[in-house]
Amino acid sequence: MANASIIEVKNLTKTFNKFTAVDDISFDVKKGEIFGLLGPNGAGKSTILRMLSTLARPTKGTATIGGYDIVKADTEVRTLIGIVSEKMIMYNRLTAKENLWFFGSLFNIPKDVLTKRVDELLELVQLTQWKNAQVGTFSTGMRQRMNVVRALLNMPQVLFLDEPTLGLDPQSSVEIREFIRKLNRENGATVVITTHMMVDADLLCDRIAIIDHGKIVALDTSANLKKMISGADTTIIKLDIPNLSSVLVEKLRALKCADAVTQENSTSLKILVHGDEAFDSVIDAIRVNGGKISSMENLQPSLEDVFLHITGHQVRDSADQKIPMAHRHFGEAPRRVR
Ligand SMILES: Nc1ncnc2c1ncn2[C@@H]1O[C@H](COP(=O)(O)OP(=O)(O)OP(=O)(O)O)[C@@H](O)[C@H]1O
Ligand SMILES: [Mg+2]
Repeated sequence: MANASIIEVKNLTKTFNKFTAVDDISFDVKKGEIFGLLGPNGAGKSTILRMLSTLARPTKGTATIGGYDIVKADTEVRTLIGIVSEKMIMYNRLTAKENLWFFGSLFNIPKDVLTKRVDELLELVQLTQWKNAQVGTFSTGMRQRMNVVRALLNMPQVLFLDEPTLGLDPQSSVEIREFIRKLNRENGATVVITTHMMVDADLLCDRIAIIDHGKIVALDTSANLKKMISGADTTIIKLDIPNLSSVLVEKLRALKCADAVTQENSTSLKILVHGDEAFDSVIDAIRVNGGKISSMENLQPSLEDVFLHITGHQVRDSADQKIPMAHRHFGEAPRRVR
């Protein structure tokens, strides 16, 4: 069935004492989809994934995977899913093949089937030539591929990946993304991935749920999310001002038409503006305060802009200003105390 939902989440909630980590969320994931949960640290992404993969119990609400309830039919759910999280154990002294045999035996897969599958999976992630090498000698990227293979041993229909590119260099991240795409295309696996990396969500996911403080604040395709803020009324302008001062930045932040003013470096600013008069107001404010504009451009909105627009958070801190936009992390979100 095309477009049928394989995951249905209704009012899912998780509280830790008085703290609500996941707050009454509902969404569906379609069969064959790559679905992303995007949000800052502490937003509740891993907790959602842990509940869906039966590792944590919901406080309230329900979810089904392939029609099976994640609490009442957790055993059935487990046969349908694979999970990759950062905390996965691999035995350093065992070879790639031995590790996979070991974990495969936990699924009660017959030996001959398992042997064949391990070979195929190692081939899939291009680790065949390393199959007899100890995992302790592997790079972070290779270990992450091993984690993914391990989650695939039971041929899951749904694969949950918690921050699959965390800590990987750009090249390994590209490889992991390509591999996830391949799995999705060739094995028809539905993929749910959590990330706080814009680039993962943007390049990989068919649809993205933006999570903030345990709630879904937006859910759509990347293109549609961006359209939300590139309408007739809202634009992003980038300005280079050689004599930029903190006073000027503050003046601009005080403007009614400026939804967000982000300083890119010592001379450049990005401003999310709304309203017909916005452009003129910004230019006037810069001139009045003695600022000189050396260049100006209209930017296509990024997912980060979408997040900023929806939540009003300042999502970046100054520490990662030198990192190219696409590779930036969200800044630490304030933890909500209730
Ligand atoms: N076992 C727990 N006990 C108490 N609080 C918890 C527990 N697990 C998670 N939390 C809290 O719930 C909130 C959501 O955590 P979660 O790990 O789901 O966030 P996340 O979006 O995955 O963040 P990150 O990007 O850092 O991985 C955080 O404030 C966290 O401190
Ligand atoms: Mg997490």
